[in-house]
Amino acid sequence: MTFKKAEWPRKLRSQAWYGGDSRDTIYHRGWMRNQGLPADLFDGRPVIGICNTWSELTPCNAHLRDLAERVKHGIYEAGGLPVEFPVFSAGESSLRPTAMMYRNLASMDVEEALRAQPIDGVVLMVGCDKTTPSLLMGACSVDIPAIVVSGGPMLNGWFRGERVGSGTALWQMSEDVKAGKLTREDFLEAEQSMSRSPGSCNTMGTASSMASMAEALGMALSGNAAIPAVDSRRRVMAQLTGRRIVQMVKDDLKPSDVLTRKAFENAIRVNGAIGGSTNAVIHLLAIAGRVGVDLTLDDWDRLGREVPTIVNLMPSGKYLMEEFFYAGGLPVVIKSLGEAALLHKDALTVSGREIWEEVKNVRNWNSDVIRPISDPLTPQGGIAVLRGNLAPKGAVLKPSAASPHLMRHRGGRWSSRISTITRRASTTRLWISTRPA
Ligand code: FES
Repeated sequence: MTFKKAEWPRKLRSQAWYGGDSRDTIYHRGWMRNQGLPADLFDGRPVIGICNTWSELTPCNAHLRDLAERVKHGIYEAGGLPVEFPVFSAGESSLRPTAMMYRNLASMDVEEALRAQPIDGVVLMVGCDKTTPSLLMGACSVDIPAIVVSGGPMLNGWFRGERVGSGTALWQMSEDVKAGKLTREDFLEAEQSMSRSPGSCNTMGTASSMASMAEALGMALSGNAAIPAVDSRRRVMAQLTGRRIVQMVKDDLKPSDVLTRKAFENAIRVNGAIGGSTNAVIHLLAIAGRVGVDLTLDDWDRLGREVPTIVNLMPSGKYLMEEFFYAGGLPVVIKSLGEAALLHKDALTVSGREIWEEVKNVRNWNSDVIRPISDPLTPQGGIAVLRGNLAPKGAVLKPSAASPHLMRHRGGRWSSRISTITRRASTTRLWISTRPA
């Protein structure tokens, strides 16, 4: 996909605040210089916002203050001026009643901060579930050059020789305590075994799915999604991202250039291949809305239907994000889809190159973690869109994570109706019907 770079040098947006010697310019620039910044940093070079969701109340993102320093290194190296600022951090583990209630509020915070400040481009520092879509949505609305760097997943959880994934394992252990299969002391010991390092959840839950979506959409550098939070390569990724955004500003490469319909179609298929979260549906629809791409629930059904799930990660499979990274991470998945004619290879990415150029030479280092398309974890992955009288506007299901017994469900004895979810023999479509109990 061709992208026409803007001419450089040219006057940037930030110069409306910092350029010249008027009273207002001196006011804006002078206050910034109380931080010890030399005058020549305001000479017209790109001013890059580092939009940070760091918060100690969002433990998945608590290391992002440190990681931002690496982004700053990269920005300075490329000749930009970094300015870090906080935005609302919608952390999943503490916010009540649910972080989802705050996603749009967070996106408004991002949008207004970017619009109102002398920022030419922005690095979006994300991690926990809702932080990725909220920052992408806000940046898309303003449509200045933007790039994502994720905090990365936690190390694998291990408890008594078994992998322990974030989330699901906790619910299972809680049930085991109730059933007398696990002592309360063991349960408390497992608590620390689950969360061994900084980072987001180590399963293919919403955080890793959305990091994968950012990469599949072309909004992050290739390989960003899976690098563990504490791996030195995560810091390298942050620094390279800082370097890249400066060039993006010079080229005027904006979210609306990257987030085309092709990019969303790629992301939907990637979500099927990774066994990604159903939450990706609502977030991608919202991001698409911000850039004016007419994406619908039916697109998820149509595009995801033929995509096999090839990533063998919890909750669909058995491994965790650390192993996904060691196997080659998301670039391997994208390459597999490309080889199966399930990818728009010419979709543009923030690197300025097409997505196929980013992945065509990668290798799969563990074919049990990332399975070949010819021998997938689930032949029909993706997101199934359910419609029926229980959900007239549609509901979604992730077949790869659903146990076979869930594919047909009879309601409890207190319900006045019985619901069934049945896979029709002739199609991959799922449907819901109700009938009297
Ligand atoms: Fe933050 Fe899972 S709770 S990523």
